[in-house]
Amino acid sequence: MELSADHIRSLQRYDLRILKSLEHLMERYAIVPAEEIAADTRLSLQEVTYRVRNLIDIGMIRYQAVPYTGYALLFNGYDSLALHTLSKKNTVGSLGCRIGEGKESVVYEAMGLGTLVLKFHRVGQRSFHTVRKNRDIIPDIGHCPWIFASAFSAQHEYHALQALHQLIPVPVPIAQNRNCVAMTEIPGTTLNRCTVSDPEMMWTLILSHIRTAYQNGFIHGDLSEYNVMYTGTSPVIIDWPQWVDPSHKNAFDIVSHDVNTISTHFRKKYAMDISLSEALETVIA
Ligand SMILES: Nc1ncnc2c1ncn2[C@@H]1O[C@H](COP(=O)(O)OP(=O)(O)OP(=O)(O)O)[C@@H](O)[C@H]1O
Ligand SMILES: [Mg+2]
Repeated sequence: MELSADHIRSLQRYDLRILKSLEHLMERYAIVPAEEIAADTRLSLQEVTYRVRNLIDIGMIRYQAVPYTGYALLFNGYDSLALHTLSKKNTVGSLGCRIGEGKESVVYEAMGLGTLVLKFHRVGQRSFHTVRKNRDIIPDIGHCPWIFASAFSAQHEYHALQALHQLIPVPVPIAQNRNCVAMTEIPGTTLNRCTVSDPEMMWTLILSHIRTAYQNGFIHGDLSEYNVMYTGTSPVIIDWPQWVDPSHKNAFDIVSHDVNTISTHFRKKYAMDISLSEALETVIA
């Protein structure tokens, strides 16, 4: 079920209390019994039973009957908590359309002081293993639910945007809460969906941005034509949650893969003659 501004608006104080309670009780339980929610929220069991039914209907939590009965927070519920907090802080005034959905995120337009992009990280069980391989920051929590891994992913991306936005063109980070990163909207489209007017210049600029990022401690880790936006004049590198430090044990392989992937795009689409080894040398020299 899609994240809906109407559903989020319909949440009342007690609904939010239940969502928050599930959020922190899920550090201990994969499935939280209703009695635990009642004790934690100080609501009656009857009130909890009534409210969870509505939260299930709007896709924010789920019910499970085996091995015991209880409830678990879903991504929509977690996203709603993040959005609620960002709106209380006046970062976000209203939620707009969904503009992207990837393997590990859903991306929305929103209004704040200007037009914003909200990226809700959704690190699922399948992708979690890849995430853990490249990122050392995710703690080894016994049964760390994927919901909490998504918050780490958002923090990690936010950190890169904060460090890089004054050095190279990336979205400007505005705020982060839970699994959500609020950032400026880049006007344009990704390189796979457009033809650039001066590919030679674009390639030179991208390579110089990869180099600047590298020299300041950031290897993108998932660089491709899908993660570079073109504004008509400049390339803007988006989607940073996979970044690694150049001191990472797999850094050379990761930066080589980045440079190889993006150079292959320019070689194939614009018939450019690019030497991978020279490009790589430009970045890491
Ligand atoms: N700051 C932004 N401004 C404008 N559009 C954006 C911005 N950030 C993301 N998008 C749009 O949302 C899409 C998905 O964002 P992003 O690449 O960061 O997430 P993702 O999880 O990698 O998704 P995918 O798996 O599709 O690459 C992008 O391809 C782009 O169209
Ligand atoms: Mg992407």
